[in-house]
Amino acid sequence: METIRQVHMMQGRCEELRRRGKRIAFVPTMGYLHEGHLSLLREGRRRGDVLALSIFVNPIQFGAGEDFANYPRNLQRDKELAVAVGTDLLFLPEKEALYPGGFATHVEVSGLTEDLCGRSRPGHFRGVTTVVCKLFNIIHPHVALFGCKDFQQLAVIRRMARDLDMDIQVLGMPIVREADGLAMSSRNVYLAPQERVQALALIDSLRLARRLTVAGETAAAVIIDAVQQRILREPAARIDYVRICHQDTLREMDSITADSVLLLAVYVGTTRLIDNHILGEEIDP
Ligand code: PAF
Repeated sequence: METIRQVHMMQGRCEELRRRGKRIAFVPTMGYLHEGHLSLLREGRRRGDVLALSIFVNPIQFGAGEDFANYPRNLQRDKELAVAVGTDLLFLPEKEALYPGGFATHVEVSGLTEDLCGRSRPGHFRGVTTVVCKLFNIIHPHVALFGCKDFQQLAVIRRMARDLDMDIQVLGMPIVREADGLAMSSRNVYLAPQERVQALALIDSLRLARRLTVAGETAAAVIIDAVQQRILREPAARIDYVRICHQDTLREMDSITADSVLLLAVYVGTTRLIDNHILGEEIDP
């Protein structure tokens, strides 16, 4: 695996590979890799001749008082995992390389970003789209892979790529869960043992919603109420939002259709967890 830290070096290397007809698959991450990231890398390995990974904890997508300074990091382990799944190129920029003095340009997708996570994390998606746009410009991949756990992020990045005519296929990959159903996230390490148990309220409530839908319930309000009640049985849980939205537009829906996605953001202790389920699909595992 080749590690590159400089923007112009990465850009040059990727340009050269494209000129030689190589198909580049790209997985952007903030590191602290888990099985969810590895599933993206394995799929990228299948879809590209060259597999590129970026690790960059992007300061501009964290708000004041959020966990930028404490975000978990373990570069040595990340490198070993990246090599094990066949990564060819690791892009590891410093903050100054991506945001040099005088940096003043941001990318903002309106409409999809003000609500849901955007409401409780103002500026978050502007930071995400800015860094992903820069990474796309540097690497110019043929295909870029993202997890569906960050459902709103994926919708926002897809819209950015479409609106800005980026010739990049943006692929969303299924949520990877722990054996007991908790969606994998780098932030799960923040959970104390008791909170880890209570965090199962998220998958439990998604399964409950799925059962209600399969039984014929179509009223979003009924499903949301049942989900909220399940989550609030846990003393450490505090709901940020429970919403049923259209999976493309993220507009709120009153009645369930095949396009409805149930989106959750819940604090368990001080850790904010997100999860979701497209109500017409099976939940695995
Ligand atoms: O999902 C993430 O890890 C980040 O938001 C991303 C897409 C790597 C941008 O920093």
